[in-house]
This record gives sequence, structure tokens and C-alpha cells, in this order.
Amino acid sequence: LRSDTFTLPTESMYEAVCRAPLGDDIYREDPTVARLERLAARMVGKEAALLVTSGTQANLVALLTHCPRGSEVVVGATSDVLNWEVSGMAALGGLMPRAVPDDDGYPNPDEVRAAIRPADVHVGPTGLICVENTHQRSGGRPIPLSILAALRLVSIERGVPIHMDGARLFNAAVALGRSAADIAASVTSVSFCLSKGLSAPIGSILCGTSEFIERARWTRKMLGGGMRQAGWIAAAGIVALEQNVNRLEDDHANARHLAAGLGRLAGLAVDPAAVVTNIVLVDVRPSGRSPDELVDRLGSRGVRALAAGSSHVRLVTHRGVGRTDVDAAVAAFSRALADR
Ligand SMILES: Cc1ncc(COP(=O)(O)O)c(C=O)c1O
Repeated sequence: LRSDTFTLPTESMYEAVCRAPLGDDIYREDPTVARLERLAARMVGKEAALLVTSGTQANLVALLTHCPRGSEVVVGATSDVLNWEVSGMAALGGLMPRAVPDDDGYPNPDEVRAAIRPADVHVGPTGLICVENTHQRSGGRPIPLSILAALRLVSIERGVPIHMDGARLFNAAVALGRSAADIAASVTSVSFCLSKGLSAPIGSILCGTSEFIERARWTRKMLGGGMRQAGWIAAAGIVALEQNVNRLEDDHANARHLAAGLGRLAGLAVDPAAVVTNIVLVDVRPSGRSPDELVDRLGSRGVRALAAGSSHVRLVTHRGVGRTDVDAAVAAFSRALADR
């Protein structure tokens, strides 16, 4: 239950990988990569798509392609791109993050507007606004479409593009009952991971206009992300998009079931209304135990969870976790809380 990155490939993925037609994708001759990129672009409603190695690389390619060195990037204070991507934007892009609060899962559009730098010789120009959907740190919340529409207005008004780190874009789509294209319509570029709940073993996708993706192809190569017979990766990605999107609802239902079960245990506080996709944040403070202590106790009972800061334990449902596993996790929590 630590993360949906632990998903293993499906049988259909193994089969598709074995029979995928291959070529050299640096020469743009891998038909399977081309097929995945066309499919991905269509599903998110953008002109073009690019297969990259990971979610981190997708965001970095987007940042470096959008922004000249010395630009500022308006980014959520608790976002993955700011906190967990090895400071790549600063180290490799010469970019300066300007953090805005995003505790509710998204930055307030007025605060984003205020964070955009004026045309002034003393300041670095704002090159990009970054949002994360779903937002991991707030418990996998999808950004409401009304907020995305308001952010789009800021983007148009100030002439600053928006990149969406949609590592779990399809979880957002399933939870909101909207297409990924509806969600991505408000942003300039969007990335998503094939390797999380969609269960492919590797790979992410970056989408945008044809012109943007053409430039992103150069950035990817510069970062060492140009791959040769990448059709082996793409074949599993095609299966992920064709077969595994709708089943994300099972993960969401399991997360709700888990939240309800844990919410009944004395010592834990879970807000069921906050569990909309596949992430459950459990506030363990009422138990008087630390997240690390509880995670250790759960681990010795065969349940692996993550400590999220000093107050919460994070649990993530995915294809490798069924209803009986969820029930077993609730029972393990109950015993971990009772132990002296
Ligand atoms: C919201 C978000 N963005 C980006 C990433 C990075 O993806 P990757 O691990 O494929 O580099 C993650 C990873 O968990 C994530 O949760």
C-alpha cells in the first residue's frame, strides 16, 4: 500500500511486448512508439505526444522546453515537481521556483496571478505555471474543472503557459467522470504516467502542441531520454491506455472502503470526503503514536505503508491490492494500535 508505482504488468502487456513491431525511435522509425504517441495525444486532446522514461523526466522536459534559463516557475508548495524531483529545474534548467500554497490540492488562481512577476529589470520573468492533478500530498484530490478554467484565464491574461503534472491524470478523469481531454483542455502541456495505476512497467507521456512536442523531443535527447527500440515500452503503454483506465474506479472504491474501515478505529482520523481517488491519508495523532512507529508495526504484520510527515500515514490502492488485502490492512492497523 506504499504506492501505485508497485503495480506489475498485466498478462496482456507481456503478450503485447513480445509481438510489438520495433524500429529505432531516435530515427522516428518505431511504429509502436508512434502508435502510443498518437493514442495518448488523442486521449488527452492535444496535437502531439512524446514517450519519456518517467514522470520526473516528463516534468523536466516540459520545464526546460517551456522556459529559458533564469525564468521563474510558479509551482505548488507541496508539489512533486518542487519537492521530490531532485531540484532538477534549478540544477539542470537554471529555473527558479516561486512556491504558492496548494494545501487544498491546487493553488488559488488569484495567488498564482499575484506570483507572476511584472516586466521589471530587477526580476526573472515568469516562464511557467505548474499544477499537479491529482495532487498527491493532499490525498490524491483532482483539481476541480472550475479552478482549471480560472487558472487558464490567468494564463491567457498574463501570457504564461501552464504545465499539468498529471502523473495520475486518469485517476482524476475517472473520479470526476470526465475525459482526460476535458481536464487537459485548460493547460498548455500535460504529462501522465503509464507506470502508476495504469500498471505499465515503465514510461510516461508528455503532450502539447506539435511545435512544443517537436522542441521537447530535442530536450528529451539532451537529457539522455532518447530511446532506440522503445516499442517494447510503448507496447505495454498502449495496453495500459486501452485496458486499464476504467478499472481505476476499483482502486478508488477500495480506497473508500479502506478509509471507512480505518475511520472506525479509535486513534485514527480519516476524512472520508477527502478520499476521492486512490490515496488515503490517515491522521495518526489521536493514537499518540508517530507515523514511523505505526509504519514499523504494520510492516511487521505484512502491511507496507508510508509515513507522510509527522502526523499522517499514507496508503495507496492499486491493481495489486484487492478488497481482501484492504480488509487485512484494516485488521493489521487495529492490532498495531492495540499493541503496547
Ligand atoms: C504527482 C507526481 N508527479 C511526478 C512523479 C514522478 O514520477 P516518476 O516516479 O515516474 O519519476 C510522481 C511519482 O510518484 C508523482 O506522484
